[in-house]
Amino acid sequence: MKLLKTISLLLPLTSAAVLPREERVSYDGFKVFRVTTGDSLATVQEKLADFSLQQWNLDTSAHIDVAVSPAQLSNFEALGLNVTVMHEDLGADIKAEFDISAVSGLKPRALPDASWFKNYHPYNDHLLFTKDLAATFPSNSEVITSGTTVQGRTITGIHLWGKSGKGSKPAIVFHGNVHAREWITSMTVEYLTYQLVTGYGNNGSAATAMLDAYDFYILPIVNPDGFVYTQTTNRLWRKNRSPAPSGNRCIGTDINRNWPYQWDIPGGSSTDPCDETYRGKTAGDSPENKGLTSLITTLRDTTGIKLYIDWHSYGQYILTPYGYNCTAEAVNQAEEDQLAAGTAAAIKKVGGTTWTTGPSCSTLYATSGSSTDYVGDVGKAEHSITIELRDTGANGFVLPASQILPSGEEQWAGLKYLIANL
Ligand SMILES: *[C@@H]1O[C@H](CO)[C@@H](O)[C@H](O)[C@H]1NC(C)=O
Ligand SMILES: *[C@@H]1O[C@H](CO)[C@@H](O)[C@H](O)[C@H]1NC(C)=O
Ligand SMILES: *[C@@H]1O[C@H](CO)[C@@H](O)[C@H](O)[C@H]1NC(C)=O
Ligand SMILES: [Zn+2]
Repeated sequence: MKLLKTISLLLPLTSAAVLPREERVSYDGFKVFRVTTGDSLATVQEKLADFSLQQWNLDTSAHIDVAVSPAQLSNFEALGLNVTVMHEDLGADIKAEFDISAVSGLKPRALPDASWFKNYHPYNDHLLFTKDLAATFPSNSEVITSGTTVQGRTITGIHLWGKSGKGSKPAIVFHGNVHAREWITSMTVEYLTYQLVTGYGNNGSAATAMLDAYDFYILPIVNPDGFVYTQTTNRLWRKNRSPAPSGNRCIGTDINRNWPYQWDIPGGSSTDPCDETYRGKTAGDSPENKGLTSLITTLRDTTGIKLYIDWHSYGQYILTPYGYNCTAEAVNQAEEDQLAAGTAAAIKKVGGTTWTTGPSCSTLYATSGSSTDYVGDVGKAEHSITIELRDTGANGFVLPASQILPSGEEQWAGLKYLIANL
């Protein structure tokens, strides 16, 4: 693998380094609890109202997952809520998950071989991984970009094609790590990419069939500013890093509430810049969304988009449109239901995991300005899906590295089913 030539390409990406260093947020001694809600939702919310807790999940119908600081712990426990413990010591689990100080040397180690999937990695190594993978597959791939971030990073990915040549087949598009803390998503998307690249050309392989039928446009980390921030400063950051609007102190827009379609439907996002689902000042105003919509509309207007998957975590869901309206049905709703159910079964067969499927709003919660509604209706993708990866709450966002391979393997099984049945 030729690593050295790519290094100079990576250097301009460090504009974030000139910003003042922020103190790393410590989660030492934090406990993460799953609080049962159900019929007691209102009571539970009332009890939690006095605490300003970091809440991990948006769908509170069955449970609320919250991180509780050491200072809050005794008061929280005195509430007598029905809880299970997700993390006994979140800080310790974050350190065990990924130790950036152990890997923050400048020496490239990101050889594209399967050992990559044993660990989480720094952002620059992800770039190197993608570039190296493209270098090993020069006749069937190239590195692509899809715009620029708030801090000036280039949203980078890979385009793969098969025997008919570059850009000749309908597009399949993957977005990973739009939510910065959902680390398992970029690793899983890279695993799928790795299977496509290494499996292509083997007679009768699924990878050969997939690449000969479709052009893949794969962007493993579409929110690199947020991703880097989770590694340097706050492991649980979700949004991009757009500056606080004037008169406000809170940073960041939720890229997955900023897509310029059904953007301001009440209840599907927040107008408060301090909220995790802040939708931005105007529809599609984040630089990340501008860059991402540009590739989507280009593909729509050329080869068309057969399948779009936006990869998230956690919860183990396969979600189809719509997010903005809980009763509106997609024109191909019955087909989407079947595809999602079949994909879930294929995943379960390999991983033993259980997946919930259905239209996004009615299955999980309302979302406005979401990627799947946009790419489905504006991008005219035939199938537009959100997949919430592992787990269902044992670890949440801080998923041990030992689950990267199992996640990749089960999703590869699901993807093979899905694409064979499109
Ligand atoms: C606590 O939650 C568990 C799991 O959801 C449930 O089985 C149990 O009945 C609940 N107990 C109480 C006292 O609410
Ligand atoms: C590929 O496999 C098929 C069926 O398994 C076989 O008929 C064909 O000859 C093989 N082609 C090559 C080039 O090996
Ligand atoms: C949701 O969709 C239904 C069915 O298409 C429609 O009647 C309703 O007006 C929609 N609601 C909103 C808020 O758009
Ligand atoms: Zn997400």
